[in-house]
Amino acid sequence: MNRSSTAQAFANIALIKYWGNRQQALRLPANGSISFNLDGLYARTRVQFSSELTQDQLILNGQAQVGAALERVSRFLDAVRTMAGMKERAVVQSENNFPMGAGIASSAAAFAALSLAGSRAAGLTLSEAQLSRLARLGSGSACRSVPGGFVEWQPGTGDADSYAFSIAEPDHWALVDCVAIVASEHKAVGSTQGHALADRSPLQAARVTDAPRRLARCRAAIRLRDFDALAQVVEQDSTLMHAVMMTSTPPLFYWQPTSLILMQLVPTWRAEGLPVCYTLDAGPNVHVFTLAEYADLVCERLQAVPGVRMVLRAGVGGPACWLE
Ligand code: DP6
Repeated sequence: MNRSSTAQAFANIALIKYWGNRQQALRLPANGSISFNLDGLYARTRVQFSSELTQDQLILNGQAQVGAALERVSRFLDAVRTMAGMKERAVVQSENNFPMGAGIASSAAAFAALSLAGSRAAGLTLSEAQLSRLARLGSGSACRSVPGGFVEWQPGTGDADSYAFSIAEPDHWALVDCVAIVASEHKAVGSTQGHALADRSPLQAARVTDAPRRLARCRAAIRLRDFDALAQVVEQDSTLMHAVMMTSTPPLFYWQPTSLILMQLVPTWRAEGLPVCYTLDAGPNVHVFTLAEYADLVCERLQAVPGVRMVLRAGVGGPACWLE
């Protein structure tokens, strides 16, 4: 049995957001979500099981981790060990090539890669849906980084049917995410804590009830490559999620002044005829979507806005894969 394995997965950006769980431990989401993978923004993760280890180890971007990060990975490996009927501990080495903890879901790429590398190192052969389910246990949005291109996570009725699948290939539509980095420090309240607060907003029930409508609009906009329709639903969905965040108890405010400046600017560019729209995750960075042919112009414009520290750029990426 091959006891080590290396895998790569791209980060993803949600067009329709996951916010709140109906079951926290299994990460069964309150609503379905849709995303696309961010080509080139990856985590690469190597897992090696060994009978000589007395505990799991986690090395993240070259630094040994202890505490919460290690515990989260160790819990995830427990799930892998249970599935494989084994006891060995593992060394997990993970690297990503983009800033962590500031609104680009680094945990999504990391747990998707870990799901592929960990299961294979443990001798398991899992289907894409099973890999997606497994990744979900580590980080909800990670289940969407397993399949390629445009991806939908169906909430499912339980653990068995809550996973993500491709709804369109990467080359279906040349969308580009121009990520205006407004801050690259680690965020104050991570999404795991945030999900637990979602039900403490009186707006969450309305957001969840309306989710099937937004999902249907988003699916149709992708299918028809209708940028204007996508822009309407993506911006509304982002603001709905942030309305829930801001009205939770305690409230979560992720926007910074520059975030709001960009949220006001982008629709004025759209009114000029430029295909652009924005979304924000649990952080202040602003993801600005456009079409490939306008990406240079949009990135240049974003870079010129005071307060924007740098602009990352990613097209639509493929599925997670093994590297050996
Ligand atoms: C705002 O998947 O990061 O990015 O399951 O606790 O790891 P955990 O949460 P996570 O939540 C993502 C929240 C979001 C929206 C989204 O990506 O759908």
